[in-house]
Amino acid sequence: MPTHTDLGFFATDVSLEDTAAIVTGSSRGIGRAIAIELARQGADVLINYNQNRTAAEEVQNAVEALGRKAVIIQADISDLDAHPKLLDTALNAFGKVDILINNAGITRIADILEETPAQFDLLVNTNLKAPHFLAQRVANYMVKNQIRGCIIYTLSISDTMASDNRTAYCISKAGLEMSMRAYAGRLAAHGIKVNGIAAGVIDTDLSRVRIPDYEEAAEKGYIFMVRPGTPEDVAHATIAAMKLYDTGVVLPASGGVMTPLLNLRTMAALEMNRH
Ligand SMILES: NC(=O)c1ccc[n+]([C@@H]2O[C@H](COP(=O)([O-])OP(=O)(O)OC[C@H]3O[C@@H](n4cnc5c(N)ncnc54)[C@H](OP(=O)(O)O)[C@@H]3O)[C@@H](O)[C@H]2O)c1
Repeated sequence: MPTHTDLGFFATDVSLEDTAAIVTGSSRGIGRAIAIELARQGADVLINYNQNRTAAEEVQNAVEALGRKAVIIQADISDLDAHPKLLDTALNAFGKVDILINNAGITRIADILEETPAQFDLLVNTNLKAPHFLAQRVANYMVKNQIRGCIIYTLSISDTMASDNRTAYCISKAGLEMSMRAYAGRLAAHGIKVNGIAAGVIDTDLSRVRIPDYEEAAEKGYIFMVRPGTPEDVAHATIAAMKLYDTGVVLPASGGVMTPLLNLRTMAALEMNRH
């Protein structure tokens, strides 16, 4: 029977103190907030970016200001050949990896009647195939080295809610949720926790354009939460998912979008409904 301290992320009091994490896509947006929150919780962080080195350096400075180590690596995660350098860079810098945050992702707008196979491949390769096989690489490392680690996926309300002008995105995220569940099952016996976060409408470069729609819907009472999400909201949910007494589950950070609600407030204006 394992002792309390052997239980790692399956323990009652999970601590991130002196852990080491890889966060994909952490130069901007949600990944950036997760990297900084992990450092605040006591983790060293590998910061991954694709194009924006200056932004990655700002995150590095923020992590180091919190007293933790930070290392930057450029890697396009859709290139599976780049994955070994992600793991090797973290191991060289920190000596181990306890945490993988599968966060990097992209979106593209295309009507489902016009979306091309090339657009579809880009989304599925970046958002689904890449994190699935990065999780496999890191999981094999953890199993081989008996590390009772944790893998968290940044998922989306689009796992379950369809958008007919972002269908490849929705399909990639729906598939990614199943990747998360399958690894959770395979890795539980090794003491490795795997969970996901279903992020809602979060104010980042990726979806800032949707914020006015969200605010209008909230104003009309169709969404309970009074504000759109921030990257920090998702970072807090990510930490909660790491400490959660569960594995293979999706924690919402959806801002009320998934709350079943039929608020027909305009009906109050109908005189016939008053009697
Ligand atoms: N924002 C939302 O409302 C929302 C909702 C649900 C789920 N999500 C998910 O949350 C994750 C992060 O989204 P975000 O809103 O934070 O996006 P974002 O603000 O556009 O930031 C994307 C981050 O990922 C990196 N990245 C993009 N493509 C990459 C690639 N091929 N290889 C490596 N890194 C790459 C970017 O690096 P560079 O700076 O170098 O470009 C950047 O650090 C995504 O998986 C997204 O699907 C977002």
